[in-house]
Amino acid sequence: MNKTTAAITAVGKYVPDYVLTNKELETMVDTNDEWITTRTGIKERRILKKEGEGTSYMAIKAAQDLIEKNNIDPKEIDLVIVATATPDLPVASTAVYTASKIGAVDAFAYDLQAACSSFLYGMSVASSYIESGRYKKVLLIGADKMSSIIDYTDRATCIIFGDGAGAVLFEPNEEGLGFQDEYLRSDGVGRDFLKIEAGGSILPPTEETVKSGQHFVHQEGRTVFKFAVSNMADVSEKVLERNNLTKDTVNWLVPHQANKRIIEATANRIGLDEDKVMMNISKYGNTTSATLPLLLADYEKELKKGDNLIFAAFGGGFTWGSIYLKWAYNK
Ligand code: UT7
Repeated sequence: MNKTTAAITAVGKYVPDYVLTNKELETMVDTNDEWITTRTGIKERRILKKEGEGTSYMAIKAAQDLIEKNNIDPKEIDLVIVATATPDLPVASTAVYTASKIGAVDAFAYDLQAACSSFLYGMSVASSYIESGRYKKVLLIGADKMSSIIDYTDRATCIIFGDGAGAVLFEPNEEGLGFQDEYLRSDGVGRDFLKIEAGGSILPPTEETVKSGQHFVHQEGRTVFKFAVSNMADVSEKVLERNNLTKDTVNWLVPHQANKRIIEATANRIGLDEDKVMMNISKYGNTTSATLPLLLADYEKELKKGDNLIFAAFGGGFTWGSIYLKWAYNK
């Protein structure tokens, strides 16, 4: 009997309408289009502007897009995971609200937080439930409203991040397609280099912490960059090696979209040509948990059944890793 594997069988996406361009950022902080483009590859990002709308708003839209395009009955979904670093509320789960709103009334739901690696880790979790035979339909959503934690006077962060959401459905596969292998890592040394200082249990929010902007994301960009370049390349190389994959047998690199230079360094290390590297950073920036599913949604039509996909991500914490997945359908 064939081993049951966990395949992605549907994708969906949502990005807000508002486009924040490099030109507009030039009016907000001391920066310029040329610097942002050459240092990051970003031209514009989407921002969820409307008051009262949070991460769940985009998660719901992405899930609905997936459900409608693929005629899925939401009542058949067993589990909804929302990978996010920006939940609607610090305590009540964003996934639970999302599941109810999309009509997944027979599902249970929870959030998963691993900064920019949230979706990658979520792929590991979702696949395990399917492979074990415990559940048949697991909806994994990556969604982040980064604009809610960004200081738009800090040019080190505000040029990078954007808002968005993507969703994928994992289902059992009997042809050996879907999830193949993973190499996931984490290292607490990263806590000092990319974080929100206040608002958690160590430093609950006060008037002082708000005044000093400690409720915003701060990162030591250069340090994070160095860790990201070496670690994303290392794990991708490792996954290729132990699955006997080469640059010729890999069809796509699906890399977290934090910086075009980090993506290129990863692709170079494994010898992949540019045309095998998924990239949409120029139009969305870094959407944290949403980058990987947004790539799948944007490239869905180009993907072929049996294609070898190598996912790679790096994020705060530090968290990082690589996943090897065989694509399961043609569109
Ligand atoms: O996804 C989660 C993980 N996050 C990441 O992977 C982000 C990793 N880091 C990065 O992508 C890059 O470090 C940044 C894009 C954040 C910054 O690029 P960089 O090439 O590392 O720049 P830098 O911080 O080393 O700064 C170089 C120069 C500095 O000026 P001096 O000291 O050389 O005169 C900065 O002050 O560029 C200056 N600078 C800017 N200039 C114009 C920094 N930010 C800006 C800016 N516009 N926005």
